[in-house]
Amino acid sequence: MRLDKLLFETGFGSRRTVKRLLKSKQVQLNGQTIMVDSLNVDPQLQEVTVAGVPIDYQPHVYYMLHKPAGVVSAVSDAVNQTVIDLIEPSQRVPGLFPVGRLDKDTEGLLLLTNNGQLGYQLLIPKKEVTKCYEVVVNERVTDDDQLAFTAGIVFDGGVICKPAQLTILSQSDTESRVLLEISEGKFHQVKKMFLSVGKKVIYLKRLSMGPLQLDKTLSLGSYRPLHAEELVALKPYFK
Ligand code: URA
Repeated sequence: MRLDKLLFETGFGSRRTVKRLLKSKQVQLNGQTIMVDSLNVDPQLQEVTVAGVPIDYQPHVYYMLHKPAGVVSAVSDAVNQTVIDLIEPSQRVPGLFPVGRLDKDTEGLLLLTNNGQLGYQLLIPKKEVTKCYEVVVNERVTDDDQLAFTAGIVFDGGVICKPAQLTILSQSDTESRVLLEISEGKFHQVKKMFLSVGKKVIYLKRLSMGPLQLDKTLSLGSYRPLHAEELVALKPYFK
């Protein structure tokens, strides 16, 4: 990894600040002052210090969690079990956080990582990362509902959603099971979209986020590190 990237990722400021640190001769590699920002270094094999203090380098981890209902998408919570509590203590590295939020009663795919940059890139509205949800609502979904979702739902008296794809999987007069694809992440978005057409969400599960698909072999509450091909698929979001 490049020295400037390492310093940036370990919290020494913007790229410009990192450049300044190097220029002011505050960075040492195995005791030697280094001023070349592009130098390749390995913090697991070499000691990097800034102003004499060794940097605290944590390799990045990426876990796919099948979130169960009843658990909150937070790092800590005084009352509820959190998604971090579902991770083995020995794998709970510092800085681990959920990328985005699923409601307490929502199940499904949640990415946990300590790579803040990746989390940011997956969540910024500009990137329009697609999320697919399996949704059960308490009424029959109509053609008009589908048209409204395609046109762009408006809720909370003026919050306009981007066009969303609504596909009916099965339905009766008292229930519909659908797939909903959205490319934004407003708070309680799916529930509010359905409420705006007079329907209540009674079950919600996230099946995918960007290139990541929920691994069907993961039972509720279990997790696994991302596979190499999943990390490759996330490449557009690594900065
Ligand atoms: N939309 C919701 O309403 N809830 C979720 O948990 C995710 C998307």
